[in-house]
Amino acid sequence: MKLVVGVSGASGAPYAKRLLDFLAEHGPSLGVSVDVVFSDTGLQIWKDEIGAPPRLPFPVWKNRDFAAPFSSGSALGYEAMVVVPCSAGCMARIAHGISADLIGRAADVMLKERRRLVLCLRETPISLVHARAMVQAIEAGAFVMPASPSFYSHPRDVGELVDTVVSRILDRLEIPNELMRRWKGHARASRPEPVEE
Ligand SMILES: Cc1cc2nc3c(=O)[nH]c(=O)nc-3n(C[C@H](O)[C@H](O)[C@H](O)COP(=O)(O)O)c2cc1C
Repeated sequence: MKLVVGVSGASGAPYAKRLLDFLAEHGPSLGVSVDVVFSDTGLQIWKDEIGAPPRLPFPVWKNRDFAAPFSSGSALGYEAMVVVPCSAGCMARIAHGISADLIGRAADVMLKERRRLVLCLRETPISLVHARAMVQAIEAGAFVMPASPSFYSHPRDVGELVDTVVSRILDRLEIPNELMRRWKGHARASRPEPVEE
């Protein structure tokens, strides 16, 4: 599988970095290759939140470079795309088919070709504008996964908290991972009632 990873200008670069680090380590053995696109603000926020520019073992495309193979539906193998973090503006542009940059165009291709598109939205609170864009994106076939960490796996530090989001992104992309302890039911939960004959 060829996967496109878009990094747009929302807070949450650690999610993108963790996902890309995982894919750098495990992608080759899982048969997953990766192409990356940063928006201008996405790159700026990465540098600020990570403290260094990205150093990635993947092709990194300019957000204005529509010559990238995955900007056309006829390029084979590009089965999935994730935008992480996904700004509210980026989600709204995708929801309305505004292919003014490579992230938007690649997402548009995913939707029109009925391929997998995951938008890891990072914004709070959610306005009606955002909510409507979210509905539109979901109706068009995207998965909207707010960057909402979970706590039931008892994360011990920020890295493990980040993993609770990244693990669920990988799940949505059907990429096997054990980044977080999964919920297997609670030992103290009530047992199912026996069915009376
Ligand atoms: C430090 C910083 C943090 C931001 N965080 C968010 C955010 O969490 N969510 C969001 O929707 N926009 C956020 N923004 C605003 C977006 O970056 C802005 O709307 C930008 O136009 C998005 O462009 P892009 O979608 O092309 O990356 C942030 C901007 C900055 C500078």
